[in-house]
Amino acid sequence: MPIRLIVHGGAWSIPDEMDTAHLQGVQRALAEVYPALQAGISALDAVERAVNILEEDPTFDAGRGAFLNDRGEIELDAIIMDGRDLSFGAVAAVQNLLHPVSLAREIMSKTDHSMLVGKGAQAFAKSVGMEELDPTALLTDRELAYYHQIKEDPNFKSHHPFEPLPSDTVGAVAMDQHGHLAAATSTGGTPRKMAGRVGDSPIVGAGAYADNQTGAVSTTGWGESIMKVLLAKTVCDRLEHFSAQEAAKYGIQVLRERGQGYGGLIGINANGEYSFAYNTEKMAWAWVDEAGAFQTRIR
Ligand code: GLY
Repeated sequence: MPIRLIVHGGAWSIPDEMDTAHLQGVQRALAEVYPALQAGISALDAVERAVNILEEDPTFDAGRGAFLNDRGEIELDAIIMDGRDLSFGAVAAVQNLLHPVSLAREIMSKTDHSMLVGKGAQAFAKSVGMEELDPTALLTDRELAYYHQIKEDPNFKSHHPFEPLPSDTVGAVAMDQHGHLAAATSTGGTPRKMAGRVGDSPIVGAGAYADNQTGAVSTTGWGESIMKVLLAKTVCDRLEHFSAQEAAKYGIQVLRERGQGYGGLIGINANGEYSFAYNTEKMAWAWVDEAGAFQTRIR
């Protein structure tokens, strides 16, 4: 089977001056993980490692660099899914962890559950030896300044449906040498969000989906609209009968027309064909093409 890897760093009106950091960030994830995928790591390991790299990069709204909620706190959501048997792990509203996607994987592999939230998730993270960071460890000057700027806004609220809000959610989709698929997504959510708000990213079928029989997808964008149409599952179902690109475009059409939303997605079908689409001004994404060359795009 072909080996495939595609990653994204969010779909929104990325300011031009942030283009380079976004492109370098998604390229770095490929550069560090693709050789390991060639050397034989699983698709599941590949998407976790790629998302870990993006979570560490303060450019993106995931792990370090995440948005603050209306209480000035960082709450993180993530999911990882295994296309072999549809097992997944997810976390929501966890604090003080650099790698929520790795906590999601621990839940998938070490518990009888699929999703943990809040304090229970934190306690489980501690029990498996994940480091609990100081609350300031994930905070960047950029997001603190942005929080204070929007806090002054009399219209401060959880979301503006038609405003191209930042949503730098990160994600990865991989196919390994055995043809197995996996997908992972991690986010700090949206700016202006209420404490406790959970978006699409950790919701199976919305923020990600992976099924060896159809394909795997990771999404990004305005979570409230993505959840309405279960964007990742909608695209995976379509991948069974249509080309990878047709399925991606269909997903964005459904998001726009039925969800009145915006966002983007990346995916790989069961034959190893890539798909991507978005209806925001830009999306940062990168993939390894059929010739093994790294491709990066921001629009
Ligand atoms: N797509 C990220 C979020 O809405 O939380």
